[in-house]
Amino acid sequence: MATASPAKPRAIKAPKVKDQPLFIGGKWRDSVSGKTFATINPATGETICQVAEGDKADVDLAVAAARKAFDDGPWSRMAAAERGRLLYKLADLVEAHREELAALESLDNGKPYRDALNADLALTVKCYRYYAGWADKVQGKTIPIEGNFFCYTRHEPIGVVAQIIPWNFPLLMQAWKWGPALACGNTVVMKPAEQTPLTALRVAALAQEAGFPDGVINVIPGFGPTAGAALTSHMDVDKVAFTGEGSTGQLVMEAAARSNLKRVSLELGGKSPNIVFADADLDAAVEGAYFGLFFNQGQCCCAGSRLFVESKVHDEFVERLMLKAKSAKVGDPFDPETTQGPQVSQEQFDRIMGYIDAGQKGGAHMITGGNRVGTKGYFIEPTVFTNVQDEMRIAKEEIFGPVMNILKFDDVEEVVKRGNKTFYGLAAAVWTRDVKKAFRLANGLRAGTVWVNCYDVFDAAAPFGGYKMSGQGRELGEYALSLYTEVKTVTVSLD
Ligand code: NAI
Ligand code: MG
Repeated sequence: MATASPAKPRAIKAPKVKDQPLFIGGKWRDSVSGKTFATINPATGETICQVAEGDKADVDLAVAAARKAFDDGPWSRMAAAERGRLLYKLADLVEAHREELAALESLDNGKPYRDALNADLALTVKCYRYYAGWADKVQGKTIPIEGNFFCYTRHEPIGVVAQIIPWNFPLLMQAWKWGPALACGNTVVMKPAEQTPLTALRVAALAQEAGFPDGVINVIPGFGPTAGAALTSHMDVDKVAFTGEGSTGQLVMEAAARSNLKRVSLELGGKSPNIVFADADLDAAVEGAYFGLFFNQGQCCCAGSRLFVESKVHDEFVERLMLKAKSAKVGDPFDPETTQGPQVSQEQFDRIMGYIDAGQKGGAHMITGGNRVGTKGYFIEPTVFTNVQDEMRIAKEEIFGPVMNILKFDDVEEVVKRGNKTFYGLAAAVWTRDVKKAFRLANGLRAGTVWVNCYDVFDAAAPFGGYKMSGQGRELGEYALSLYTEVKTVTVSLD
């Protein structure tokens, strides 16, 4: 049977959004101070709506609500399977509202609606479902110790968990954090990024609809140095999970250390090497290299931002990448033809333009891009630098934008060494048809994830996190359960 060619994706209109409150203890409320802040549409620079601005007083209320739900609320008495059922229900509700949520994400963050729907929403639903399945499978062991004892472990929830997330994948980061935390029986106070608070609040409403008891989930939009810092230094928060910039991660850890030594897990970005050998499937490698850097406007913690290309194929590879960059459609995130939207904020736009300037001054060759697109919003042309050297700023620092840096290499051992010459260690990739080279690189690269002949393959079941200054701990998969449980050893005398 002949199938019709896929219908052109329909054009979607940006949704209208009301002003937004905080979500504390099951109630929607204004901030104690009465203050609000504007969340901005990065495609236009205009205000979408006002959002209640949480600060210390609101954090105190939210932590108290989370504490109550954890200590004496229905949450701690609920069967694990019931927690799983609620998470399944949340997954179903997010899925049922996926178009609405994708539109809201696109509006607040600037990512193309199509990507929000096909990547962010799809992965978000799968993540909630994956952890729903874990809820009643978090269990300890019996330990054969010496003597006449019965010894066993319990994997208990840590307690009240603060979760601070960034703006690049708001819905997905919320799912990565809520999924394992709730499956393990913790209660949560989340601070979404000030640039993108809208979808976190909408999902909180869906969680309420799913039937999560009051206080189990709290969402406090606000700024890092105020609401964020109040959470990281709070004496009644048992754990903080953070994703964002490395220097902020250091502040989070410091605040945890100076307050109650709360548990800390961190995911902090990188400068990931993406390594293309001459024997690779070059069509796939060009696609993968482009996607690995430019996806999500280059705003990915694991972006393949150091592209090492073997000398023998360098010129051909560069030519093909440049053509791809030139054919990108930069513009309105709600236009179905758009492949690249705006950067998230003026601040990020300025930062990236600063790196483009540094690249040129530092002696790299800019072969395409480098300019702002349009006169409003934060759009930047896909930009490609060649002749990039290891010591240049653009080869060392996280740019977090649509700026690709291409470096040349000649041999396997050389590229392992250069690939590892960074303080980061989040991800890496290698493109080759030679199995030996693939394994040499997979084993030799000091990074939490290595992709072979692919890039950005994510699955709720596959752990993700950083070596070195890219973080502490692993999110996703079974490994994430250990970020949200305390192990208790119980020893019973049988004499
Ligand atoms: P950031 O690390 O400042 O922000 C991330 C989150 O941390 C936000 O919710 C923010 O409000 C919060 N925060 C900020 N200061 C805090 C503090 N003192 N205490 C507690 N929470 C605090 O990142 P920002 O400024 O938005 O972006 C700067 C750079 O960070 C980007 O250019 C990029 O290089 C990197 N970044 C990395 C991300 C990743 O996925 N690893 C995500 C976002 C940014
Ligand atoms: Mg910051």
